[in-house]
Amino acid sequence: MILVTGGAGFIGANFVIDWLAQSDERVVTLDKLTYAGNLGNLSPVRDDARHVFVRGDIGDRALAERLLAEYRPRAIVNFAAETHVDRSIHGPAAFIATNVVGTFELLDAARAHFAALPEPERARFRFLHVSTDEVFGSLGPHDAGFSETTAYAPNSPYSASKAAADHLVRAYHHTYGVPVLTTNCSNNYGPRQFPEKLIPLMIHNALAGNPLPVYGDGGNVRDWLYVGDHCAAIRAVLERGRPGETYNIGGNAEMTNLEVVNALCRVLALQRPGRDYAAQINFVRDRPGHDRRYAIDPTKIRAEIGWAPRETFESGLAQTVRWYLDNSAWLAAVTSGEYKKWVSLNYATEDA
Ligand code: NAD
Ligand code: TYD
Repeated sequence: MILVTGGAGFIGANFVIDWLAQSDERVVTLDKLTYAGNLGNLSPVRDDARHVFVRGDIGDRALAERLLAEYRPRAIVNFAAETHVDRSIHGPAAFIATNVVGTFELLDAARAHFAALPEPERARFRFLHVSTDEVFGSLGPHDAGFSETTAYAPNSPYSASKAAADHLVRAYHHTYGVPVLTTNCSNNYGPRQFPEKLIPLMIHNALAGNPLPVYGDGGNVRDWLYVGDHCAAIRAVLERGRPGETYNIGGNAEMTNLEVVNALCRVLALQRPGRDYAAQINFVRDRPGHDRRYAIDPTKIRAEIGWAPRETFESGLAQTVRWYLDNSAWLAAVTSGEYKKWVSLNYATEDA
């Protein structure tokens, strides 16, 4: 059995669904169900007897101890986090609580559990920590992509909190011998992503006939990866990664935000014709401290693990738009209530 934290969020839910589709190994999902977590994300495995859902906080030490003792997972895959850069600017405290303190509590529970494990369970045990390329900071236009030896230089409260967690994970290997693996992935997109992030926000606004708010000049670059490819990379690292190592994950798909939004408008025009979506593009005030460019050098994971992405940006984007068009009830459910407050807070000054 494996323990997946944050499994009701975007990447975690895709991971749990893919895992149960490809293996018979059971999964226990631990998720706090914050605004970003949604049991509807796990609807494909709702009636699957191999899946157990537990609502709770990774920072609840007693709960983590109970789950480890009861289920004896061979691995923990830690997705649980506060993840949105803009929210971290408006309110960093939740990012410290979950990403730093929460990861610490989970890691420390894993350390105690691991120390008491008999062989051969002990030899098999892994703690896989899911992190981000944002810990490396911002690249210049001609810099090489981030490698596993690039120095950490986080610039937002979000990336700083993830960097802090990564350092704790590293230290728990060095000091206590906990068999950790860390993955640092580039920007993901795909089904079930909360519409606060660029691609689903633009899909939602485009369909609603609302402005498509591009920050600054739209020239910021991200390296996009389809979520299914990220999940496959995590499975591969879990099986073949060397404890104590970190692996950068990316798909060599660098694009400016404006290129992404224009590509999205073209896919929408094919799949839901009838409107000039690109005419809805609206340049708005930039995000404070906005990192200009992220790019991953995926040499290590390709050479050592043998992973490579299956989707191109075009094929992944087409599937993503199809999913949002086919799941309008999901989109309507997650964009009610709290979501409206967020939109008015973050985009209130867009004409300023
Ligand atoms: P998400 O915001 O969609 O989901 C996060 C999930 O964690 C939610 O289900 C939420 O309820 C849960 N959660 C939050 N706080 C919790 C807590 N204290 N205890 C238990 N559960 C809690 O995030 P995502 O985009 O799926 O990202 C998952 C992981 O992948 C994160 O660690 C993130 O840093 C990392 N990551 C994301 C991207 C990306 O582009 N989305 C890229 C690289 C890495
Ligand atoms: P986002 O999806 O928030 O991911 P991250 O900041 O973690 O990379 O944003 C991706 C890029 O899109 C980033 O450069 C900010 C930009 N962006 C916009 O231009 N408009 C928006 O409304 C949002 C949410 C993001």
